[in-house]
This record gives sequence, structure tokens and C-alpha cells, in this order.
Amino acid sequence: MSGPSIETRGLTKRWGNFTALDHLTLHLEGSKCVGFLGPNGAGKTTTLKLLADMIFPTEGDCSLNGISVRESRKRALENAGVLIESPEIYPSLTPNEALEMVADLRGVPARDRRNRVKEVLAEVKMSDWADKKVGRFSKGMKQRINIAAALVHDPEVVILDEPSTGLDPRGMAEVRSIVRDLKKSHRLIFMSSHILSEVTEVCDEVALIDRGKLLFYDTLENVTARFSDGHSSVDIGFARPVTEDALRTELGSVSAVREVIPLAGNKYRVRFDGGLSAQEQLLETLAGRHLGLVSVAESESALEEVYLQKISRGD
Ligand SMILES: Nc1ncnc2c1ncn2[C@@H]1O[C@H](COP(=O)(O)OP(=O)(O)OP(=O)(O)O)[C@@H](O)[C@H]1O
Ligand SMILES: [Mg+2]
Repeated sequence: MSGPSIETRGLTKRWGNFTALDHLTLHLEGSKCVGFLGPNGAGKTTTLKLLADMIFPTEGDCSLNGISVRESRKRALENAGVLIESPEIYPSLTPNEALEMVADLRGVPARDRRNRVKEVLAEVKMSDWADKKVGRFSKGMKQRINIAAALVHDPEVVILDEPSTGLDPRGMAEVRSIVRDLKKSHRLIFMSSHILSEVTEVCDEVALIDRGKLLFYDTLENVTARFSDGHSSVDIGFARPVTEDALRTELGSVSAVREVIPLAGNKYRVRFDGGLSAQEQLLETLAGRHLGLVSVAESESALEEVYLQKISRGD
């Protein structure tokens, strides 16, 4: 096996009669970021906790870098950084103090600790705050220190459970940019998220889970290409009400148009076949009709469409 890896084989977790995770078999390998998507209660945190040996599986097994978590917990987790349910950092500590303690616990040799803490604070863009007390930090800054704590022993496998949830838009953007940079350093990142745009922006691959079952795992490109079926769509807005029928009539001459879907306000989503030239023809036709076209936006990400399709169908 080459490069960092995460593997689960028939991994199952039951709480009494309830199956939280149902025979999950997944093999992630190489330096990349894999997004782990699914609705509330799908089994994401359960999976990540099983990988981190925070709970025991009912059936099945998992390995990190080819080492079984059940058989050799210490060796398997040695090379993994985990952030699940962000812990509170003691408020009167500084990042330097807190991270040196974590480095000690994670077995970083005393002579390397200072340097390693410095490197990891740079990675989470918190170098300027190394000697300030954590108690006064914003939620986003605390989360960056938590990410630094997961990285302090320079692990190859990084497991993050919704790292940007609960942060304001700026905090989310910061965490996202940090995760994006982590990829560059030969790591396998497995990150659960609810935010589809975040996964699209940060991840190379995506796994979707629902009711404890894996629905698919593939590259982001394959997932969106496979399910979007060659369609594209744009969202268009008008200055005044335009009826659906009127819009359909006006667009009748554009053969690429497949579907017109009303959205909120005076907005519509237009689905069409083909790429940019079809989009050009569509928009130029509309602009020439003087219907009061005032805005054009890319539709929600293709991943969102796939997600809604798969989750609502429940297959
Ligand atoms: N200790 C427990 N006892 C009983 N049921 C549990 C326990 N922990 C989790 N569950 C159940 O297992 C299911 C999966 O939970 P999990 O936390 O893995 O979901 P999730 O995908 O992380 O959801 P979310 O997006 O809300 O974080 C849920 O229905 C949850 O209620
Ligand atoms: Mg969860």
C-alpha cells in the first residue's frame, strides 16, 4: 500500500436495535481531501469516532495506514490527527503552552516540540497569537488552535468532524482555506461536512452516506458528471413578474432548453443541454425580449443537485 490510507470493512455500529452504521466498506488512499456528506443522523460522526477508536464497532473493522485500529490502537492512531467535537482549550493557556502539552502527549520528542508548535501555528495562520491567552480568542481562532492540536505530531491521516460548523462566515472561510492548504502537505484528509459548497471548494472526492449506508464514493468530477447527465443550469431574475408560460414561450426558439423551474421572487432556474454556447444563445435571446432581465447566476452547485436527488429518493 502506498501513501496514507483509511479503510473500513463492513464497519457496523448498533445502539440496541438501532443501526447507526450499516456495513460501511470504504477505501481512501493517497494525499487528498475526501468530503464525508450526509444528512443529520446519517452516521458521519459515528464513522469518524470508530476510526479514532472513541467507540467500539458492533461488527467489522477499520485500519489507518494499513494498521487495524482494533488490533493495534496505538500504532494505528500514532499517525492520525483527529478533531471531533471540538474540545474547550483551558482559557488561561496560550497556544504555545496548550500545543506544547498536546505535543508532549502525542509523543513529539522534547527537543522538537517548540519547532513543531511554531510550524503548526503557521499552518493554521495563528503565529501572531502564539503567546496570547486562548480565553480571549474568537470561536474561529479557537477552532484553528484545535486544528493545530490535531496536526501537532505531523500526522499523515487527518480526520475532521465538521470543522467549520458553528463559525461565522469569516471563520468558516478561514478554516476552509486552512484545510485546502493541508492537502498540499502529503496528507489524507477525511472531513465530514454539511456544507456542499465547502466540499466542492475543498475536496477532491466525496462519499455520501444516509441512514448508516454508503450511497456513493467517487471523485467530485465523476459524481457531478455522472448525475448531471450533461445538463447545465442558470438562475435568472427579472425586475417584474414574468409568468412561467410567458417565459417558456419566449424561450421556445432555444432548442437547448429542457426545463423552466420557478424559484422564489421573480426568479427562474433554466435547465439546458450543452455548455457555454448554449448558455450564450439562451441569455442573448432572453435579453433581446425586454422582459426586464436583471440578474443571471450560476445555479447551486451540481453537488447540491446530486445530494438532493440521492437523499430525497432515499436510494
Ligand atoms: N450513544 C448513542 N446512543 C444511541 N444512539 C446514538 C448514539 N450516538 C449516536 N446515535 C445515533 O446514531 C445515529 C447517527 O449519529 P451520528 O452522530 O453518526 O450522525 P451524523 O451523521 O454525525 O449527524 P450530524 O450531521 O447531525 O452530526 C443518530 O441517529 C444518532 O441519534
Ligand atoms: Mg455528526
